Amino acid sequence: MRQEQGGSRSYKEAVMEKLIISGGTALRGTVHISGSKNACLPILAATVLTPDKCTIRNVPDLADVRAMCAILKWIGVQVKHDRKAGVIETKAENVVGVAPYDLVRKMRASVCLLGPLLARLRSCKVSMPGGCIIGNRPIDQHIKGLMRLGAEIVMEAGYVNARCTELVGTDVFMGGRFGSTVTGTANVLMAAALAKGVTIIECAACEPEIEDLAIFMNKMGAHIKGAGSPTMEVEGVPELHGADHTIIPDRIEAGTFMVAAALTGGDIEIKGACATHLGAVRDKLEESGVNVQRTNGTIRVSGGATRRPFDVTTMPYPGFPTDMQAQMCALMSLTPGISVVTEKIYPNRFMHLSEMARLGADVALESNTAIIKGVNRLSGAPVMASDLRASAGLVLAGLAAEGETDVKRIYHLDRGYEHIDQKLRNLGASVERVEEEDNG
Ligand code: EPZ
Repeated sequence: MRQEQGGSRSYKEAVMEKLIISGGTALRGTVHISGSKNACLPILAATVLTPDKCTIRNVPDLADVRAMCAILKWIGVQVKHDRKAGVIETKAENVVGVAPYDLVRKMRASVCLLGPLLARLRSCKVSMPGGCIIGNRPIDQHIKGLMRLGAEIVMEAGYVNARCTELVGTDVFMGGRFGSTVTGTANVLMAAALAKGVTIIECAACEPEIEDLAIFMNKMGAHIKGAGSPTMEVEGVPELHGADHTIIPDRIEAGTFMVAAALTGGDIEIKGACATHLGAVRDKLEESGVNVQRTNGTIRVSGGATRRPFDVTTMPYPGFPTDMQAQMCALMSLTPGISVVTEKIYPNRFMHLSEMARLGADVALESNTAIIKGVNRLSGAPVMASDLRASAGLVLAGLAAEGETDVKRIYHLDRGYEHIDQKLRNLGASVERVEEEDNG
């Protein structure tokens, strides 16, 4: 059994960098969307379900993807990551069933290893993910689902200790206080694939990332039906084999660039995105008066016209994504009238508001509702990123602000956006990545 501390295996800490943004330029041109982070992470975890080689393509070059690769290597998976080509090859011939705190704490989605390790090894020990700045994120539904399949689970010393003689298919209801759970559904789906008999997952997450995971697993020989709907049927199989899969595009990255066009009064062609995954975002942009066109696989967004105030309530897919909430707050801050955001997935996910207020946004917060009164202008200032999507919201606000905005701690941004500063520069933005003077 390997040492848990992982010694020299822990990966390099991020160098503190910031973005210096000179705002006020209308963004124009074409942007190509990268592969989806939130599809890629559970799919990489699913490669542990087979000893065979898997090839994953259209992999975005992100800190979170590299973190998942580090954990896979730690548990014994052979991983070849061609970051330039966006291809990862894995071979999980001999794996150990321990995902250590030191690695899991850096990337919550590594909890997705629980289902596949349990199904493959019949026993595993995965660190609890711990706290998160965007709010309380328990894994009770993950645990409930795996126990329904026959796992014995003991939480001890910060770890989920799971074991079973065998997993047996049954009905599993995956609805929690805030509705369905994305990675919870992923964990139960991956465990059910190697269980005896049929599992019916009810109140399953319908996110495109879950559908993509199911498509990959069916290529591995799994029998999954109903992916993308609230009810999935999984007929367990004795074993799975290797597969080759191309990850779907990142709908949140695409949504972020759609808002960038609207907020800067620009005109951007978004290539490589899947428009059907962006229905709720498109609907809200159009409601506020933004022009959105879909032609031959391209989404074209042009701002400029006077916008109208609008309301957003975050919901599980296909409702409005919580991961686009901060970006919409930035748009609302410069939209005439009073707009309202109700955050129903992470009620406290508003760290970005006080930073946007530093740029001159007129915001008020009542429990899980933000009331945003549009102002005529924002003025650049130093702001601090607190999490991945908050940092995207601050970058967008900085692009529309007069003068210079410094967005600090952009390691948050690099977790989920591939080369975003380069992509923005290609659209005409004045964005510079520099090392922070101090680590304040
Ligand atoms: C996924 O997180 C995404 N992460 C998140 O994106 C996204 O915000 C979230 O889904 C919601 O859309 C990945 O896919 C890697 P949940 P996940 O379980 O699966 C509660 C980003 O910015 N809940 O669907 O962790 C939970 O607290 C990230 O890319 C329970 O109560 O989210 C939340 O309120 C941030 N018990 C709600 O359900 C549970 O056992 C939805 O959480 C599980 C969840």
